[in-house]
Amino acid sequence: MAEKTIYLDRNENNYGPAPACYEVLKAAGFETLSWYSKDFARGVKSTLSERIAKEFGVPESIILLGYGAEDLLKQAVHCFLSRNETIMIPTHSWWYYKSIADEKGGITVEYPMVPGPDSFHYEVKSLLDLAAKHRPRLILISSPNNPTGNTLDLKDLKVLVRTIKNTVIVLDEAYWGFTGHQADYVKELIGEYPELLIIRTFSKYYALAGVRIGYAFLGKNLTTLAQFSARYLGYNRLSERLALAALDSRDYYAEISQKMIRDKERYYQTLGAIPGFKAYRSNANFILAEIPERFKASLKDYLTKQGLIIKFFNEPNLENCVRITIGTEEQNLMLTNAFRDFARDKGLI
Ligand SMILES: Cc1ncc(COP(=O)(O)O)c(C=O)c1O
Repeated sequence: MAEKTIYLDRNENNYGPAPACYEVLKAAGFETLSWYSKDFARGVKSTLSERIAKEFGVPESIILLGYGAEDLLKQAVHCFLSRNETIMIPTHSWWYYKSIADEKGGITVEYPMVPGPDSFHYEVKSLLDLAAKHRPRLILISSPNNPTGNTLDLKDLKVLVRTIKNTVIVLDEAYWGFTGHQADYVKELIGEYPELLIIRTFSKYYALAGVRIGYAFLGKNLTTLAQFSARYLGYNRLSERLALAALDSRDYYAEISQKMIRDKERYYQTLGAIPGFKAYRSNANFILAEIPERFKASLKDYLTKQGLIIKFFNEPNLENCVRITIGTEEQNLMLTNAFRDFARDKGLI
């Protein structure tokens, strides 16, 4: 058995947070631990919500803070979806979407996420047709999507928000950042579409999953969610300080994401060279790969013995798929070597 288990199945960021975050922990004293985070005197939620608003050029009042994107997604669905109302989600998506819809007795309708030769893509026309047919209360879009790794093009997103009316569009951007902080569209889209909710997190790009902090931008017709979500006494002062330190550490995170982009190429090449294996291009810190059904159990066993844990799916649409979290350079090298050795053992290459 391997000495140490390497978890590449949970889409965490194995490089860890910026050094400035550890400094925050060392410096945490009385105020950080004993005072509520709400900035009573100035009437804003906190220094963090204010900072996020400034970064994206939007009013602080449209920023929601929550205990990760998970928390904000659940709040949105619990706030807007009633029993027997419809929510649309992608065919291939994070299992959690359906589970929160089920909690509210909602009806889930899936819209297609289509595999192409290199990557998955959204099919805007089918999505619009299904929306016209089912008149959903909510549409959940994930970009980059877990587990397929593809993003929705900005031009397609604009088509969606301009065409769909009277529907809450929730854009889950938990994996935002891994392909760059491209010119920001938040201000424009939120300004234009009053029922759009964009959810992001510090868990993935900023490697702060353990302290559970996420945020959202709220379209102007969604004030019921602002009330539903309001925490009079604030959130978590320590997590907020950590998030601020992360935002101040641009270079650290940019370097990590460059390494991940290089390592994703290594995975595409390694897996693409094994007959029957196929890795889909991804804009996130993970990739989805197809493996031959007959090797599923033996591959799992082979990797586990080396302490390498990746995600093997059993759910519909994904039976022959694995999801690999992009780890550190060293971890990625170990895993790509393990795939190659496995393929050699089986006489595939
Ligand atoms: C698509 C997607 N959204 C949201 C989350 C949850 O993120 P957070 O850690 O901010 O709750 C995950 C977690 O893996 C995810 O895959």
